[in-house]
Amino acid sequence: MRQRSEMGKKHTERHNDRMFIKDKLTDRKLPPLMIMENGHKVESVEEWKQRRREIKEILDNFFAGVVPPLQPKTVGSVEKEDKDAVGGKAIYRHITIQVKTVGGFFSFPCHMVLPKHVEKPPVFLYISFEPELFTELCPVEEIIDRGYALVSFYYQDIAPDTDSRFLSGVARLYNRNPFDSWGTVSMWAWGASRIMDYLLTLGDEINTERIGIVGHSRLGKTSLWCGASDNRFSVVISNNSGGAGTALYRGKQGEQVINLRHGASKYWFCGNFLEYAHHEKFLPFDQHFVMALVAPRYLYVSSSEKDEWADPKSEFLGAAATDEIYEFLHLPGLVAPMDKWPDVPSTFHEGRIGYHIRKGTHYLSRYDWNKFMDYRDLHKC
Ligand code: GCU
Repeated sequence: MRQRSEMGKKHTERHNDRMFIKDKLTDRKLPPLMIMENGHKVESVEEWKQRRREIKEILDNFFAGVVPPLQPKTVGSVEKEDKDAVGGKAIYRHITIQVKTVGGFFSFPCHMVLPKHVEKPPVFLYISFEPELFTELCPVEEIIDRGYALVSFYYQDIAPDTDSRFLSGVARLYNRNPFDSWGTVSMWAWGASRIMDYLLTLGDEINTERIGIVGHSRLGKTSLWCGASDNRFSVVISNNSGGAGTALYRGKQGEQVINLRHGASKYWFCGNFLEYAHHEKFLPFDQHFVMALVAPRYLYVSSSEKDEWADPKSEFLGAAATDEIYEFLHLPGLVAPMDKWPDVPSTFHEGRIGYHIRKGTHYLSRYDWNKFMDYRDLHKC
């Protein structure tokens, strides 16, 4: 009798081991990723395609807002070139991206740095907080040394991030409504996609199959949304992005939807989204819907231990919830211990959902960049 109950206990313990993260996810009461609006469970890849369209539509209408049909035609022109940049190790170009749209003309600058020691390098497209190339958050020389090209642009060149002045950016090209019109995150992502249009014309110089997008914080929300909606990016890296990024809203600590309703952040997403302030549990999606759109491509979630506003646990659970679609597609998704929260630091690079958590606070550090490069080296993504 005693023996049996011991065995029973062991069995339960083992079950608990495996179920820890799964149970945490169950507690969050997430809307199901793989059940269609009509109640039917997704059972084939064909049905997933249909579900994917549904999810994109939900997110367009209730989250990021609808991108207007601008029918962009993009060209890039090199304004300036330095053949001996970064101590002679790289070629630098200052480029103007020029876009013809049905709403009018739009142009903005970007930087490009190509390492000389690699033929057709893979690329990081970095959404920057600053107009300059060399900034605190972007280690240009390390990136070049590791054989990656770097392209960066200043997000506010697409749409200002200061109250209603965003209207002077790309928003001016199309009529707006207060419900489902695109927010500034979607506009910044649109800018990244226009650079992608241009990069795809540079097949002689870069590896166009390996263009990754990376951003931090609000720009991590942007890189995620960009990569989710534009499948030309091979890897999508979202650093310390928190709410409306990789963190699940249901059960989230720190920032909530209400906190986005003030200042410039009230224009980051669409009007419908802000209606869910204090009612996150009624959102018709959660952030795993956004991340699932990246599949089967590579997704990277990075957190820092003391980033309580973003909530690292909810970021990890976001990645864990997204694993479902990779599993459905028979691909390794988040390969990580499921019996506990990740230790700090931890790195999980085996699957198509890469993850790390480091010590310290909200930041995009050299440590993070090196992890991104380790991951991309490993998967050739
Ligand atoms: C604020 C905001 C976050 C955002 C961050 C940033 O903290 O609440 O959502 O990620 O700013 O972009 O710096």
